Amino acid sequence: MPSETLTLAQAASLSSGGSFWTTKAVGDIPAIFVTDGPHGLRKQTGSADHLGIGSSVPATCFPPLAGLGQSWDPELIFRVGAALGDECQAENVHVLLGPGINIKRSPLGGRNFEYLSEDPHVSGALGAAWVSGLQSRGVGGSLKHYALNNQEHDRMRASSDVDPRPLREVYLRGFRRVVEDAKPWTVMCSYNRANGVQVSEDPFLLTQVLRDEWGYDGVVVSDWGAVRDRVAAVAAGLDLTMPFDGGGSDAALVAAVEAGVVDRAVVDRAASRVEALARTATAAAQIGATYDRDEHHALAREAAARSIVLLKNETGLLPLAPAGSIAVIGAFAETPRYQGGGSSHVTATRVDVPLEEIRAAAPDAEVGFAPGFTVDGSGAQSTLVAEAVDAAASADVAVVFLGLDARQESEGFDRENLDLPAEQRELLAAVAAAQPNTVVVLSHGGALDLREVAAHAAAILDGNLLGQAGGGAIADILFGAVCPSGKLTETVPLRIEDTPAYLDFPGEHQHVRYAEGLHVGYRWYDARDLDVAFPFGHGLSYTTFEYGAASARAQGDGIVVGIEVTNTGQRAGREVVQAYVSVPESAQVRVPRALAGFASVDLEPGERREVEIHIDRRDLEYWDIRLDRFVLESGRYVVTLGSSSRDLRASVEVELGGDEVSFPLTLESTMGEVLSNPTAAALIAQAMPMPDLPEGDAMGTDMARMMASIPIERTISFSGGSATREQLEQLLAAANAD
Ligand code: BGC
Repeated sequence: MPSETLTLAQAASLSSGGSFWTTKAVGDIPAIFVTDGPHGLRKQTGSADHLGIGSSVPATCFPPLAGLGQSWDPELIFRVGAALGDECQAENVHVLLGPGINIKRSPLGGRNFEYLSEDPHVSGALGAAWVSGLQSRGVGGSLKHYALNNQEHDRMRASSDVDPRPLREVYLRGFRRVVEDAKPWTVMCSYNRANGVQVSEDPFLLTQVLRDEWGYDGVVVSDWGAVRDRVAAVAAGLDLTMPFDGGGSDAALVAAVEAGVVDRAVVDRAASRVEALARTATAAAQIGATYDRDEHHALAREAAARSIVLLKNETGLLPLAPAGSIAVIGAFAETPRYQGGGSSHVTATRVDVPLEEIRAAAPDAEVGFAPGFTVDGSGAQSTLVAEAVDAAASADVAVVFLGLDARQESEGFDRENLDLPAEQRELLAAVAAAQPNTVVVLSHGGALDLREVAAHAAAILDGNLLGQAGGGAIADILFGAVCPSGKLTETVPLRIEDTPAYLDFPGEHQHVRYAEGLHVGYRWYDARDLDVAFPFGHGLSYTTFEYGAASARAQGDGIVVGIEVTNTGQRAGREVVQAYVSVPESAQVRVPRALAGFASVDLEPGERREVEIHIDRRDLEYWDIRLDRFVLESGRYVVTLGSSSRDLRASVEVELGGDEVSFPLTLESTMGEVLSNPTAAALIAQAMPMPDLPEGDAMGTDMARMMASIPIERTISFSGGSATREQLEQLLAAANAD
């Protein structure tokens, strides 16, 4: 333990930043360098900031997580993580500040472009792959923003008020998986409050859940500026306060120990964790390492192509022939939108321009271009539209690039609506009226209202945000060099009014109530049987897949499910098979279906393969608020396999043994609960013979059902003295002992 040799002042100082991006060197303990990402490095060269203002070294801008997640490809994401690790090594960065895996509770969340999904299984599985890849190169990850940081509005003060079940089953579930499976070197605590407590000062989240329950032994680092009260934060389990604050909070920590307010051991604990991180990170550093920019650009292109979702292709318009005349329309074709704004903003090593990539992919085609709109809304809109319509009308096909500008979605504020800018919608309507063969390519970080786009466009490619090689990847998909296989990780709703958090986002007076509970994302639309524009998990291909019959078996506490998938089309393609679990006879509130696993399969035309999905206990259990722990219910589990959450192809059942749980009867137990315990029922029948109740419909009322909800203790007052408290207590004790 280093702390034995460190003075109190040194221990306090080690557990706060030495600069904006470094820890302190103390004695022989080295300082380490941390930096943003996460979809590329934002290693700043000049002035430091956490808002994406100052310049940073060139780095490969891989697809931001919202885009990359659409690949549903842990193996690919591992490789992206590893490449990021190599870039960190080359730039002497020890910890990369990502991934962000907060749940997309509302599509309006300003930072959704940095997050993976509305679903905790997807967030956890893909987040773990990203961390494992990065850390395989000897560079640490920083799992963020832990926890309940699901909006930008008032993000430093607002309290996310959430019940225990959604907290555990939705909002913490992905974090748990990444912590348990990938062991990130650091976890970043978020800015907000959680159920009234500032997260940076919350012993429940920082110690009880993270360390005691999940066994985390790394460093908890604060988000930049998230610490209000350093003493309370360190006592709660925070190890590293960032950034450097001038030393004031170190002095406050020392004073608090000297005054007996906080134990010295608490400070030493934080210091020793920071020391362990610093030693591990510096030992793993590869001084003088380099990376190949072209190789990383190629990986960025592969990742981007895998992340594109083919939302619609009704007339089979895609893939396009690289011939004839193609009108490329939309400012984003020339000035692509490929990443989000704020602390994650990366200076790309280069940027593929979609228009140029289309020309390169179709050298024999006549490719015209009309901007159609300007990104900043300037210019004569009617002239721009007229030019675009002319270009579209005289071409064989129009490819229209639409989307949101970086100013419309960024860290620090939420979006106001789901709309594409009016001038873009107007442009599309005019172009589509002139050219039925209209393809729309979308660039955006958060979900959009796509009703008009779906009505006008014959085909839609959802690029989300694709990083620096997105232009090439779009060309790869447009002309069929790559067969699309991405799937949505977030539902595209019809209207904002339909969304789960609509009435409770972003809250008021520093509180936001997560009133939708467990019904987040597709769970909500399914439970309420609401139509959506495009469902969670949706994504088409240029080929078709047929699913055979499914089989399932229990394995340990989990389920192994298998299904044969056949490529019934003309092209090689990849299908992401999704497994959703329902527990129809559950005694708990359950969502209709929850994603519990997925796997992908590459198939040549005509090829058939068995796909196996392993579902583990963590995706089956529910949080029991009476026991304050997860419980695996016994009973029938239905696994439904599909190509999306609403394109379900086969289902299979399996019985699981589950956990033994018992709930002792108390005086507060209802008559119904007591009578459903056979021993108690027999004892009651002996001791307190019940009146013969008329069965069923007596006086329009089912008396037995009415009585079932009366706590047994209240029967004392109805018994006219024939039942006593002691008698009931003895009876319940006897039943509980049986
Ligand atoms: C963001 C973090 C980021 C940090 C450092 C904060 O504002 O929330 O995600 O890592 O700044 O730039």
